Amino acid sequence: MQNNVLILDFGSQYTQLIARRVRELNIFCEIKPYNKLPENLSEYKAVILSGSPFSVRAEDAPHPDLSEIRGKKPLLAVCYGAQYLAHFGGGNVAPSNTREYGRANLSFVEKEELFLEKIAEGSQVWMSHSDTIKQLPTNAKKLASTHDVENAAYRIEGEDTYAIQFHPEVYHSTDGKQILENFLVKIAKVEQTWTPNSFVDSTVEELKAKIGTDKVILGLSGGVDSSVAAMLLHKAIGKNLHCIFVNNGLLRKDEFPSVLKQYEGMGLNVKGVDASARFLDELAGESDPEKKRKIIGRVFVDVFDDESQLVEDAKWLAQGTIYPDVIESVSATGGPSATIKSHHNVGGLPDYMKLSVVEPLRMLFKDEVRRVGASMGMDKQLLGRHPFPGPGLAIRILGDITPEKVAILQEVDAVFINGLKEWNLYDKVWQAGAMLLPVNSVGVMGDERTYEKCVALRAVESTDGMTADWVNLPYEFLQKTSNDIINKVRGVNRVVYDISSKPPATIEWE
Ligand code: XMP
Repeated sequence: MQNNVLILDFGSQYTQLIARRVRELNIFCEIKPYNKLPENLSEYKAVILSGSPFSVRAEDAPHPDLSEIRGKKPLLAVCYGAQYLAHFGGGNVAPSNTREYGRANLSFVEKEELFLEKIAEGSQVWMSHSDTIKQLPTNAKKLASTHDVENAAYRIEGEDTYAIQFHPEVYHSTDGKQILENFLVKIAKVEQTWTPNSFVDSTVEELKAKIGTDKVILGLSGGVDSSVAAMLLHKAIGKNLHCIFVNNGLLRKDEFPSVLKQYEGMGLNVKGVDASARFLDELAGESDPEKKRKIIGRVFVDVFDDESQLVEDAKWLAQGTIYPDVIESVSATGGPSATIKSHHNVGGLPDYMKLSVVEPLRMLFKDEVRRVGASMGMDKQLLGRHPFPGPGLAIRILGDITPEKVAILQEVDAVFINGLKEWNLYDKVWQAGAMLLPVNSVGVMGDERTYEKCVALRAVESTDGMTADWVNLPYEFLQKTSNDIINKVRGVNRVVYDISSKPPATIEWE
């Protein structure tokens, strides 16, 4: 791929953020672990070294051979990267006397191209390091300092090698994106051609060439990723894309017919399969969360397998895998070992089907998936949907599952989600839902004593679901929602709001 930027990961928690900032500049980039330099290095136009939780002075710290990169390609070294270049380039890195964490302001010694454009004296940057560069490497000249950090930025003379001690990728570095742009566009001369439209055009061409007239099977979930993947494939191969949308009986209220209709309206060749009874039968009496997940996974594979067999001569299985699922990440604590996260939307099909896998979104971040969908004219509401777990309401009904409990929770969830939409709160929340608790409590309605179910509402802010904060929803909204639920949903007499963050709580209750 032309115009590709390489981000070498040393295990920083911010590495993916660097990639997202670069992509926001309409520049394509890939993250690779520091100990696996790509073989096609010559195809990369610039390299960025990430930060790291390690000290360069530690023996087990990342110490890769950069001789094929340094001085040969434009190079921007961030935080640990800057210390690494100094440590092995004739400089000196030592523990700093003060903990250098948080906001700082740049004071320029010499501006150079990295800071020339639009960056004023005093520009705020974000520091996060405990070692500091006491002495610059050979042939380096200092470009900027801060109050506590003497060598906050430097350049190696005669090379397009720049190093910065702060993190340009985090939001608190107010000119961080401009600094990345100065490096990539002005210094490395990378073109800003990575746009949703260009991605759609090139991906559709690639898919056409790869798949030809073969048939492809894809499992739609109603979520953003599988829907956008389907649309791309639809553009490339039309009716040869066979989509299967399974109703496991654990979806939101009315979700199956309405989403199926929406898919049909998009022109997709989609088959809706209502397997609710099969799922609920197999789940009957099971209350262990992991066993419930396993049953749902197994039944899904069975149903999907049955349906796939009906598509004669299918050669490919398409999946909505996205970039965070496939990035090879450097373990922050385990030294140079790399772990690979894998993601199986379809839980694995039997070997005899021998389908090749095609994953058109595997290089995209979630926000890019949404932009790609929007550029293909897909419905905003579909693209803006909250994440919803594969096992659906099964992991929001604590304990065993019955059709009656599913029906109650669907009603409660619908009141809550529709309310969020009506109050313009839906887009401010990353994920929301209701949990049906396995407790009855005493209430009073009219003159009658009641002894009915309790539901918990949950709404969280997050970027990736790994950490999450509960959302401070307006009291008036909670009051109205609680009233509506108790008045409209028979069998519920108490509503509570979950004010736990993750960690230590998880988002789902099971
Ligand atoms: P937790 O509860 O682990 O959830 O904090 C984090 C995110 O993952 C979703 N989730 C699941 N998604 N299958 C899925 O496809 C599952 O078994 C599952 N469990 C949790 C959850 O909805 C949240 O977005």
